[in-house]
Amino acid sequence: MAEILIINGSPRKNGNTDILTDELLKSATEHGAAAEKIRLVKTKVKPCLECGGCDETGKCIIKDDGNELFDKIAEADYLVVGSPIFFYNITSITQAMVERSQACWVRKYLLKKGPWGGKRRKGIFISVGATKGKLLFDGVIRVMKYFFDAVDADYAGSLLYRNTEAKGAIARNEKAMEDVRELGRLLAQKSDLAGFDALEL
Ligand SMILES: Cc1cc2nc3c(=O)[nH]c(=O)nc-3n(C[C@H](O)[C@H](O)[C@H](O)COP(=O)(O)O)c2cc1C
Repeated sequence: MAEILIINGSPRKNGNTDILTDELLKSATEHGAAAEKIRLVKTKVKPCLECGGCDETGKCIIKDDGNELFDKIAEADYLVVGSPIFFYNITSITQAMVERSQACWVRKYLLKKGPWGGKRRKGIFISVGATKGKLLFDGVIRVMKYFFDAVDADYAGSLLYRNTEAKGAIARNEKAMEDVRELGRLLAQKSDLAGFDALEL
């Protein structure tokens, strides 16, 4: 059974990322996967303090929800992260999680330990933004690829939606809703997601 962890980094409840990730969760579950969704805004995950506490062990020493979150990532076969664009960036709560993967980066690249959770996984990014700019998602895709690498997730592709601003507007984008339903089906079937990046809009 495919283990899927879906992380929503939007602070807005019932917003666009929430709707997309809910639909993904529903589809993956209906197709037989063991899927869980986390709303980052409900957790307490501080940004990296650059304290060096992970240097010897590859384990973060901050006492908050971060270690439990990364333990869940360790279990996952597929890691889906959703974040809207805030000032051409991922949201600050998503960035805090990304920074906390520094402990995994240390573990992997300095301590030369095996993959996080003993297995590789696949990473998928979902994002929405208000504007139509061609470069809107370029920076955040680079960030997410670097994050996925730290947690031993092979970047499989993104679902990206421009021109989406009002709360819940994405629900009227039938193509977007179908994309996430299809993604849920693919993940439940343990697809290798070859060619998935072609869905990028
Ligand atoms: C603080 C803030 C900054 C934003 N910055 C951008 C931006 O730089 N570019 C953009 O296209 N949209 C920007 N937006 C719009 C959101 O990306 C857009 O409304 C999105 O649909 C919100 O998704 P959500 O409902 O999942 O939170 C910003 C919104 C907020 C609240």
